[in-house]
Amino acid sequence: MCGIVAYIGNNNCKNILINGLKRLEYRGYDSAGIGILAKKDAISGKKIKSNDKVNKNKYEIKVVKQAGKIKELEKLLENFDIDGTVGIGHTRWATHGEPNQVNAHPHLDCTGKIAVVHNGIIENYAELKEELIKKGHKFVSNTDTEILSHLLEEYLKNEADGKLLIAMQRLLRKIRGSGAIVALSAEHPDELVAGRIASPLIVGISRDGNFFASDMPAVLEHTHNFVVINDYESVRITKEKVEIYDFEGILINREPFKVNWTLKSAEKAGYEDFMLKEMFEQPYGIRETMRGRLTNGTFNFEEINLSNEQIKNLRKIQIIACGTSLHAALTGKLVIEKWANIPVEVDISSEYRYRDPIVNDNFLFIAITQSGETIDTLAAIREAKRKGAKVIAVTNVVGSTIARESDSVVYTHAGPEIGVCATKTFTAQIIVMYMIGLYLARVKGSIKSDEYSQIIEEIEIIPNKVQQILNSADKLKKIADETYKHTCFLFLGRIYGFPMALEGALKLKEISYIHAEGYAAGEMKHGPIALTDSKTVVVGVIPQDFVYEKMLSNLQEVKARNAKIFSIITEGDNNTKKYSDYVFEIPKTSEELYGILTVVPLQLYAYYIAKNLDRNVDQPRNLAKSVTVE
Ligand code: F6R
Repeated sequence: MCGIVAYIGNNNCKNILINGLKRLEYRGYDSAGIGILAKKDAISGKKIKSNDKVNKNKYEIKVVKQAGKIKELEKLLENFDIDGTVGIGHTRWATHGEPNQVNAHPHLDCTGKIAVVHNGIIENYAELKEELIKKGHKFVSNTDTEILSHLLEEYLKNEADGKLLIAMQRLLRKIRGSGAIVALSAEHPDELVAGRIASPLIVGISRDGNFFASDMPAVLEHTHNFVVINDYESVRITKEKVEIYDFEGILINREPFKVNWTLKSAEKAGYEDFMLKEMFEQPYGIRETMRGRLTNGTFNFEEINLSNEQIKNLRKIQIIACGTSLHAALTGKLVIEKWANIPVEVDISSEYRYRDPIVNDNFLFIAITQSGETIDTLAAIREAKRKGAKVIAVTNVVGSTIARESDSVVYTHAGPEIGVCATKTFTAQIIVMYMIGLYLARVKGSIKSDEYSQIIEEIEIIPNKVQQILNSADKLKKIADETYKHTCFLFLGRIYGFPMALEGALKLKEISYIHAEGYAAGEMKHGPIALTDSKTVVVGVIPQDFVYEKMLSNLQEVKARNAKIFSIITEGDNNTKKYSDYVFEIPKTSEELYGILTVVPLQLYAYYIAKNLDRNVDQPRNLAKSVTVE
């Protein structure tokens, strides 16, 4: 969702902001804008039409914004000549007010001396707007954000002694909802201030100046040193300094941390799209996620932070997640119950947070989230912690809010995932589920040692098998080329194949906009089979496992109703070929591990269908990488 980049330093900031915003495109957005502090006498004679405010001081804020993609903003910027070394930029994902130029950020106050960008939702904005209107403020947009610049204006005038930071602190106390907010003021040209409530905000530190951003890739080309901002903290950055204050306004000392993500890892590296690149990075992501945790058959899982005694006493595990991460959770349930013999409940985060869940002693809570910022998952964690649960987060983003609010974190080391659609973070989550299941089973002694050794051996070579599948991507392209015109897709699977059927359907619908559903194949007769006819493609996830024959019967049933059948089969399965119009063969593995191998062809298949339909696979419509609003 919305992306923020801001800079104060020695360099001209226009390109820093635009390039930073481009690196945040993956978050999803529908308009973009920048605001730059320009010395009045340095402003060229070119005519500036929109949002151009002139004030009596030495500096003025130039705001240029546009509906649509950043390239539209760049086109508009060709009409302006703005130089300045302090500025803020924003990509907006509309929540209040349509995605047009007026509603795009930054938003100015009445005087044009304060500009604000914001990621989040101000829940009490209507009442605050009403109060401000009574005081004579005039609004031009339909956004909730616009009240923020006006509130800062009020506080600067009346309560903050002219100090921008104090005004921001006052504002954080006044608003309800969520927000990462960055403000720029023409009367405070040596600083940028920001505040945060429940939306991601980081500070990047470099020799040539300092940054605010929603996410690290925005500024990776300038720095690898970051500080994360927590809820209700306010921050002041200058060219040389970063000052963080807590809710009471007390200065906090927080050391920066270094990330080893490279800029290259956040670029396409010759691939047509980030999604394609990220799918091909899966063997690496899986290996990196295993590295140091599973070595020669032995686990080192210190980060789980549970004693053997605690593990032996576990009575229940609760896993929560949303979307694709939920499908990793469903896989986690299957393998943990099977290997570690501990009951596992899986909930959708947005349901868990409101259902008054029971938290008992000897209970473990696992939250899975690639971004570490999903607001529903965060709220569910807070609810579980309030009830006394110990929370383990599984996430890909170091320093993310969920990582920081959990008792312990198991990082997936898939590298930055820029495509909105989760692919390599998903297979990394799956490998974590496998490892947690086996680790708990080993400590509990609930798995036979020969079975354990055989599965471990298989896990260690999973990256090679994923690579083997990727090497045959052209076969999936061919099947996609022949089937992409169909308008109804049903993905069927059983047991380990069921979460992957759900994931295959989710991938297809989110990037191709074709109607697709995932079902447990046994459910077909209870309704969905009514949908099948010659226009339907049924994608069967049918590896050679203990439900293989049941699954085969289900496929025969839909075949009898004239559906086209595309089956993901284990190599050498000639029997399923007889009933299928298309097949893709995956290598053999242990039956519990088929999930990770079956999902890779489903991702590729969805990708090639979407490409046939000329979709923007990296930024599908209406979707965002980090879902930071409810
Ligand atoms: C689908 C996808 C989403 C996310 C969901 C949860 O490709 O990426 O369904 O899985 O929004 O996000 P995280 O994992 O960041 O909590």
